[in-house]
Amino acid sequence: MERYSIPIIGIIGLAVLCTYSWWYYFTVTFFLGIMLYICFIFASDGDVLLMMYEKFGQKPDVFKDKVVWITGASSGIGECLAVALAQTGAKLILSSRREKELERVKERCLKESNVQSDDVLVVVLDANKFDTHRECAEKAFQHFGKIDVLINNSGVSQRAGIHTTTIEADQFVLRTNLLGAISVTKCILPYMVEQNSGHIINVSSVAGKLSSPCSATYSASKFGMIGYFDTVRAEVYNSNIAVTNICPGPVVSNIAENAIQETLDKKKKILQIDPVKNYDGQAERGWNLLQTGERCAELILIAAANKLKEVWISRPPLLIVVYMSQYMPTCFRFLSARLGMKKAKAFKMSQSTE
Ligand SMILES: NC(=O)c1ccc[n+]([C@@H]2O[C@H](COP(=O)([O-])OP(=O)(O)OC[C@H]3O[C@@H](n4cnc5c(N)ncnc54)[C@H](OP(=O)(O)O)[C@@H]3O)[C@@H](O)[C@H]2O)c1
Repeated sequence: MERYSIPIIGIIGLAVLCTYSWWYYFTVTFFLGIMLYICFIFASDGDVLLMMYEKFGQKPDVFKDKVVWITGASSGIGECLAVALAQTGAKLILSSRREKELERVKERCLKESNVQSDDVLVVVLDANKFDTHRECAEKAFQHFGKIDVLINNSGVSQRAGIHTTTIEADQFVLRTNLLGAISVTKCILPYMVEQNSGHIINVSSVAGKLSSPCSATYSASKFGMIGYFDTVRAEVYNSNIAVTNICPGPVVSNIAENAIQETLDKKKKILQIDPVKNYDGQAERGWNLLQTGERCAELILIAAANKLKEVWISRPPLLIVVYMSQYMPTCFRFLSARLGMKKAKAFKMSQSTE
């Protein structure tokens, strides 16, 4: 199409709209609506539905007296969730590998809320050791007699290119993030079906909605979580069990520092040559994209209290990119392949050769 024909089509279009005034008002209102929606997304740190529920929906105090099992509770988002839930009066089971850190989080919960020591149980759990999960679940059932909510939050990130990553490192990420969550869920799902109630909340990621260069296996594990737990929702639909998938963007935590690299035994130092251009976890800080763990936990609990099925928690411009990947997938794939290639190159540059 010749370039000049585009304004001509526009002028003809406007003439038609002016002739049929009803259409004119309809079109203008439609476009104003879209503009308003986009402005709203720019001003938000979560998807539009979640923001609506934050204003008008149920508050997290619905968790008072509920028994909530949080995996990955020893730091970051899990720790913030534990404190926020304790403040609502929930009873907690805190799990991860580091017992000392879990005890520290328990102490924090007791200090910052009115829960009693008996209301918070520490259960050491390694997501990779599937054969120990049933025992962990039984310990929790023995203590509280029930589990109302499971939050699958434990996870590790990944910083490495695809062809230099060993299959052992890939397996580790998939086992920790995906199979670990599946295994823990399988241990309590039969009880939830029997009691005809329950809620499973899965902390996936924005990387579970769009490709994430130099974190391919991490991205696969988080896409996998959404696929698996969407299916769980369908299978237990008649048992009054809710499933909520959470997709946060970058949040302040130790996730970048603890990320798995090419091999499990050796870590390369990531150089910070230029914090904005290099893919080292600092870029997000440079763009002021990082969210606090407290705010992320607050929004997760709004989503959970309202039993939302999937939420995106992030600031623009990343939030806009998630919208684009959902509603304009062809455009998104075109751009993401080109930008992703640049990101992968920058990542290579930021790795030291030692
Ligand atoms: N921070 C972000 O930017 C971000 C963005 C999107 C999604 N997420 C997701 O949010 C979740 C929490 O991450 P975070 O940001 O809070 O990072 P974090 O501070 O590093 O927390 C990760 C948690 O997972 C636990 N964990 C790791 N490996 C485990 C294993 N094998 N078995 C049991 N627990 C294990 C860790 O505890 P131990 O070391 O004590 O085992 C820790 O409590 C993760 O699933 C992550 O993928 C994070």
